[in-house]
Amino acid sequence: MAATEVQEKPQIVALISGGGSNLQAIIEHIANGIIDAEISLVISNNPAAKGLERAAAVGIPTAVVDHTEYDSRESFERELKRHIDAAQPQLVVLAGFMRILTPDFTNHYAGRMLNIHPSLLPEFKGVNTHARAIAANASQHGASVHFVTSELDGGPLVIQAIVDINQDDTAAGLAGRVLQQEHIIYPIAVKWFCEGRLSLDGNLVRLDKQPLPIQGIAHRVTS
Ligand code: GRF
Repeated sequence: MAATEVQEKPQIVALISGGGSNLQAIIEHIANGIIDAEISLVISNNPAAKGLERAAAVGIPTAVVDHTEYDSRESFERELKRHIDAAQPQLVVLAGFMRILTPDFTNHYAGRMLNIHPSLLPEFKGVNTHARAIAANASQHGASVHFVTSELDGGPLVIQAIVDINQDDTAAGLAGRVLQQEHIIYPIAVKWFCEGRLSLDGNLVRLDKQPLPIQGIAHRVTS
């Protein structure tokens, strides 16, 4: 590389719908120099998402693509895609993005889109995971980072945080403890990806070229 050539940092586009605390965790890891990347755009489908303020507060460009203004999932996604692709990101991060995506959309970002889900996938896909885990008398719960595929909450796993469920746990209390762990494992996965260490090879996740176990890396929380 010639001395004058500047190597660009990996660019990230984040999609959010709400609080944006996972986005905040990634922003802070970048600010602290732990992740060497740049968030070039944050997009929300919800104009009132608090995460938009978090991004704006640190000068990250934001966009709103409000799904209620589109008459089909396809037209909504077309607009979303237009915004994302204009930013030419290496990685798309779903951080509490609460829209179901079509296979056309997920295939377009195959191997370069990550999601975090608040359960130990494949258990408890979908919503209300904390209450469902308690109702099922599960002894453990947690969160999973996975590559996004056309199967809802079903893509290959990268890393899971495993949290014990206590006898007297409420859904809200458990959700809070899981969220704390989300803020640890999501930045780890993003860092690995941005360093070129993490990749998707068919249905196999590779870290430093080695295939990961089917559950991904386990991050066990001692209580
Ligand atoms: C997190 O629990 C995430 O796993 C789920 O929605 C919640 C979003 O939290 N998909 P935040 O918007 O990152 O604060």
